[in-house]
Amino acid sequence: MTGVAAAQGPLVRHFTDLAAAGGEAIAAMLVDALDRKAERRGWPKGRPDADAPLDRHVLGMVFEKSSTRTRVSFDIAMRQLGGSAIILDAGTSQLGRGESVADTARVLSRMADAIMVRTDDHAKIEEMAHHADVPVINGLTDRSHPCQIVADLLTIIEHGKALPGLDVAWLGDGNNVLHSILEAAGLLRFNVRVGTPSGFAPDAEFVDRARRAGSQVMLTQDAAAAASGADVVVTDTWVSMGQDHAARKLAAMEPYRVDAALMGRAKPDAIFLHCLPAHVGEEVSEEVFEGPQSVVFDEAENRIHAQKSILRWCFGQIA
Ligand code: CP
Ligand code: NVA
Repeated sequence: MTGVAAAQGPLVRHFTDLAAAGGEAIAAMLVDALDRKAERRGWPKGRPDADAPLDRHVLGMVFEKSSTRTRVSFDIAMRQLGGSAIILDAGTSQLGRGESVADTARVLSRMADAIMVRTDDHAKIEEMAHHADVPVINGLTDRSHPCQIVADLLTIIEHGKALPGLDVAWLGDGNNVLHSILEAAGLLRFNVRVGTPSGFAPDAEFVDRARRAGSQVMLTQDAAAAASGADVVVTDTWVSMGQDHAARKLAAMEPYRVDAALMGRAKPDAIFLHCLPAHVGEEVSEEVFEGPQSVVFDEAENRIHAQKSILRWCFGQIA
């Protein structure tokens, strides 16, 4: 897969997945995000950056699933870059009444300078990118959540940890967020220790690609083994949007709750990440979520700074 598609007209940079951008571009986005965040520290959140690099550009955002962080962070990101955003919900747009993805992509390409999509089936993002002649950004699909992981990497670096050789432990469901962590691991050479119950491992494609790229990926059903010695401990909801609350799944996840005992297996200076929304008492105990190793609200804030650099990459402002 390539991030440069030539469906119609000139080359367009789509951020359909981390691999679409590549490791060097992700690294450049992280540097850009850190710099820009430092430059505007203490400013009102809606004030544009001094250089307003996306002056009067418009982002169209399509949501076929719920969102708080992705929706607000992209809107604020566009304001800080000097532009603005428009939100389309499935329930109130023609997409929700059956208008095709192809036609939606072509119409939004004429009205907006970029499109962000949160949807269920990843194929819809690929289809949108194929038919759009402005950048298309993946705001979460059932398969991946690449924007989240740019914010996560930013948070890890801000907390003093270098990515190459880092040991990241994932506990719980082998879901879309884990897929993007595995993709990032291959691109930026860190290691992932995955603790999931039987039947809930990540897609083998993501594991294989990370390993082929030189990342060490441990797959285990032993939660303590996954957490042991980790620099970063990550979890997410046990039931993602669109999945049913099967009692069997919830029961299988119980040993993977990140509690103080599991967190204690990680390095003493390990940090805890969660993309949010959290279900405290399920995938993470209150003690860990509210504890000193939890950096989940730094992570949430960093969604803004990550989105800005993703947008700037899409517009060719980052190599
Ligand atoms: N982490 C995340 O994507 O949050 P939202 O679902 O609120 O956008
Ligand atoms: N895995 C979760 C992430 C939410 C931001 C979901 O897809 O619902």
